[in-house]
Amino acid sequence: MCISCCSNWQKICDICINSKQKRMVSVKTLGQFIIEKQADFPFSKGELSRLLRDIGIASKIVNREVNKAGIADILGGAGEINIQGENVQKLDVFANEQFIAALSAGGECCAIASEENEDIIHIKNEMSRNARYVVAIDPLDGSSNIDVNVSIGTIFSIYRRKSQNGPGTNEDFYQRGTEQVAAGYVIYGSSCMLVYTTGKGVNGFTLDPSIGEFCLSHPNLQTPKMAKTYSINEGNYMRFPDGVKKYIKYCQEEDSSTDRPYSSRYIGSGVADIHRNLITGGIYMYPTTSKSPKGKLRLLYEANPLAFIIEQAGGKATDGFNRIMELDMKELHQRTPLFIGSADMVDMAGEYMKKHSAVEKIAKA
Ligand code: AHG
Ligand code: MN
Ligand code: MN
Repeated sequence: MCISCCSNWQKICDICINSKQKRMVSVKTLGQFIIEKQADFPFSKGELSRLLRDIGIASKIVNREVNKAGIADILGGAGEINIQGENVQKLDVFANEQFIAALSAGGECCAIASEENEDIIHIKNEMSRNARYVVAIDPLDGSSNIDVNVSIGTIFSIYRRKSQNGPGTNEDFYQRGTEQVAAGYVIYGSSCMLVYTTGKGVNGFTLDPSIGEFCLSHPNLQTPKMAKTYSINEGNYMRFPDGVKKYIKYCQEEDSSTDRPYSSRYIGSGVADIHRNLITGGIYMYPTTSKSPKGKLRLLYEANPLAFIIEQAGGKATDGFNRIMELDMKELHQRTPLFIGSADMVDMAGEYMKKHSAVEKIAKA
């Protein structure tokens, strides 16, 4: 009996051998892909490739921990409040430590800015001090979903340092999103995926747990220009600017010519919501609210990397008025409103903001 398909009386039948060989030929791991892409830049020294590889390794370790979250003592709060005033979860701490350890050991980045650390982390070993890159990271995005088996993520953004050498400085991070050399996210979902861009399109890799490798599963991702999904925490409705309120009503109106009403989908994990919208199209909004007048999401390690990915996939990202990647970075943990996703939907939301909220915005400035 064939040990693979059970339908033929051979140890491994010809059909299974053939399909196994076909499968083996078509798999491209993240490591292979990175090396191939590096060949496009003959003068590169491979540092960026190694950084991406280090991030891939750390995310596999985090994924392993996320997978056993229910059975290991890794759920729940760590008993601390972070710089953002939010409850820190044990997995936030674990993920932060893993990414810092991987990036420190790799020797390719001289400083890290993390959501979980008030100040930048200088990597002190000799190898890293003079490294050319800095990395900004949200080690665990969607913390509120950790304990309930819902997708969470990691977001990262890589810049070339501004300072010449020695330990990295805050100024190395005070760059516009347009200066990012790479950005990506990992989604710990029904499967674990790593999606990244270096400014030449977006590629997605799915972790094959049987071989422990991220394999290219979504080459050259493009997001639909127009779609039927809007994602926003509508519990905050009364606190939204008028432009957002009116745009939500537009999404909910009945109109067969534009195929409305749209569907509302909101997980509360930015990575998961934006990943879904990247694949199927849609708009994700986290606008200002009367409670958070600057917005909630952070420019450096949430909005900018996600904007880079979405733009590379043909979508758009704004703060309601301006392109996210052109906003000035003035503080490490600076917040921003975010409207991101299918280009036509982001444009339409922007029109509502201009029409109904421009005056509010000027009044607050
Ligand atoms: P984090 O867990 O890193 O603090 O980020 C959570 C973010 C984002 O992922 C999500 O879309 C949003 O906050 C959810 O906020 P609300 O609970 O206010 O909707
Ligand atoms: Mn986050
Ligand atoms: Mn986080």
